[in-house]
Amino acid sequence: MSKAAYHTEILKVDPASIAFTGDSLSISDPQTETSLKRAATIISSSSEVVAFPTETVYGLGGNAFDDDSVRNIYRAKNRPADNPLISHISSVSQVKQFFGIDLPKIYEPLVESFWPGPLTILLPITTDSKLSKLTTAGQDTVAVRLPSHPVARALIHLSNVPIAAPSANASTRPSPTLAEHVYHDLNGKIPLILDGGSARVGVESTVVDGISNPPMLLRPGGVSLEQIKSVGGDAWKDVRVAKRVADANEPVKTPGMKYKHYSPTARVILVEKEEAMLNYIASHDLSRDKIALLTTQSFTGSQFPGIVESMGSSKEEVSRNLFKCLRDMDERRVDYIFVEAVDETDQGLAIMNRLKKAASETI
Ligand code: TXA
Ligand code: MG
Repeated sequence: MSKAAYHTEILKVDPASIAFTGDSLSISDPQTETSLKRAATIISSSSEVVAFPTETVYGLGGNAFDDDSVRNIYRAKNRPADNPLISHISSVSQVKQFFGIDLPKIYEPLVESFWPGPLTILLPITTDSKLSKLTTAGQDTVAVRLPSHPVARALIHLSNVPIAAPSANASTRPSPTLAEHVYHDLNGKIPLILDGGSARVGVESTVVDGISNPPMLLRPGGVSLEQIKSVGGDAWKDVRVAKRVADANEPVKTPGMKYKHYSPTARVILVEKEEAMLNYIASHDLSRDKIALLTTQSFTGSQFPGIVESMGSSKEEVSRNLFKCLRDMDERRVDYIFVEAVDETDQGLAIMNRLKKAASETI
């Protein structure tokens, strides 16, 4: 089949002009309203896909009920078809409306605290479900999220269908936190990008499975394990954290775990001790190469013979800047990116999950 070539348009939208009162929407900026309606019409009335901002990362959205839309998502990203997509909704009542079930009790405290926001829950699929089977890639569950970003929520509300949306990067690349990252990866492959500025959280949502016993944290993300345990009550106090990487022949709960991820072109080396890094550079004779160091909480970088950039000192800042910094170093054509590790508490679990997947070694 010939590949459709698109002229990819970028439309600026103003998140501050969008307000939800309860579940009802108002948009004060006429241009934002026009652009959102255009994007919503594409999603609800065609099989095309649209990139849009969420509070975690940019998503690439299509109608989760429509096979062709979902096919177009996989195609634009070059994503393996066995890795299921998250369906995005704009109000809790859409759980019943779109998926035909009441919210399982176990999720109530989490939804109460973290929706709208960076939490994704697994729901069972009913036998009369309208979801495209391609959205869920043969799983017997569907992953559902209610994002807090006003542009994402307005787009879903206006489309009036669940929006299937993976991160809007080309498969294996770092997730996009700016419209220009999406453009870099998907220019010519999609018709439209809504540009709502930079993503605040910077890493993807936390995926939890409350249907299994014990409940599982399948992917660490914007909501921390500590937060889930602290508000989840008894049911979540022994939540089990899924293994980060699955063995080659092991069936996995979250198929996304087994794929290469978050990789810039440069070789990423995760560093626990600054001194070990300096020894590595000396013994590999790297000082002539273009090398960069991304620091987090304690490295000084004073003896580093290359580019040194801070990703921030709090874990919130590090999450927000992580993918952008990896992409920026690629733009600067460095051969090696050394990245300072953080401890795995709070946001650190999500940060290290992404870094370990991006890195080819840890020193
Ligand atoms: O923050 C986010 O979650 C972003 C924004 C756009 O909402 N989306 C995102 O989607 O990160 P994606 O496709 O890049 O990652 C979805 C993850 C994958 O690891 C996938 O395997 C897992 O969720 N997943 C989706 N449906 C699942 C299911 N039914 N069972 C288990 N894992 C599932
Ligand atoms: Mg992704």
